[in-house]
Amino acid sequence: LHVAVLMGGWSHERSVSLMSGEGVAKALESKGHKVTRIDMDRDVASRLAEAKPDVVFNALHGAPGEDGTVQGMMDLMGLTYTHSGLATSVIAIDKELTKQVLVPHGIPMPGGRIVESEGLYASDPLPRPYVLKPINEGSSVGVAIVTHDGNYGNPISPDATGPWQEFDRLLAEPFIRGRELTTAVIGGRALLVTELKPKSGFYDFDAKYTDGMTEHVCPAEIPDEITQACKDIALRAHQLLGCKGTSRSDFRWDDTQGVEGLFLLETNTQPGMTPLSLVPEQARACGMDYADLVEEIIAEALA
Ligand code: DAL
Ligand code: MG
Repeated sequence: LHVAVLMGGWSHERSVSLMSGEGVAKALESKGHKVTRIDMDRDVASRLAEAKPDVVFNALHGAPGEDGTVQGMMDLMGLTYTHSGLATSVIAIDKELTKQVLVPHGIPMPGGRIVESEGLYASDPLPRPYVLKPINEGSSVGVAIVTHDGNYGNPISPDATGPWQEFDRLLAEPFIRGRELTTAVIGGRALLVTELKPKSGFYDFDAKYTDGMTEHVCPAEIPDEITQACKDIALRAHQLLGCKGTSRSDFRWDDTQGVEGLFLLETNTQPGMTPLSLVPEQARACGMDYADLVEEIIAEALA
């Protein structure tokens, strides 16, 4: 096959996407496929048209590669591509829209509300502890956890600088104490549950992509009932959102509350494929190596 691997771009997750894309490209070459690497710029359409691949592996993270824009362009160009399509991407990148789709179907997600970032310093939008996050970013870019003692993650103060300050609207959600869990869906089945134990206590950008900063327990040492609930919810969310190829659903679990304490935070339609990423790790634990996983995602796109 001739595969164009689309990576990079200009989102806050550019560096992550370059790692994902390079991993995918190398794996495809190891399987004897022809690979064209495309670091996305504003000429992406002409570069894809020139490459004429059999299939595009979308290794982009964040907008516009994960929010439906690039998907719509590829639809118009008649290209076959991996992962979710336009409508699913539009919904899933938006954490608030995702809730509007999933919660009526009984998927447990935290409450909360959209707040204007201006004026947040004056009063708390929710009782502490709570989380503030951009509505459509990934990799914990711009996330702040506000506790009784102050806040960690992005600093929240009128004179602070950082990615957080560029967002006009944010999602405020109650902070769910307890544990960080995640489940991948591939080929129509939920794989495993991984527990993330960041040494800093916060699974932020650095804890996600710096080797040694987070312990991954896979499969998670949690009751069977919680494992099953994570798998059921991840698969159901994947289906309700109309995901294709692979997705990864992220959870918080308050382990003092049993299954009632389990909440889906979001479903990622373009989950990371870096050396520290969770979908490849779960696939490996299920006996599927990285290159087989890449080929399986492509096979679903071509099916
Ligand atoms: N947004 C990152 C890449 C992830 O979901 O893995
Ligand atoms: Mg995400």
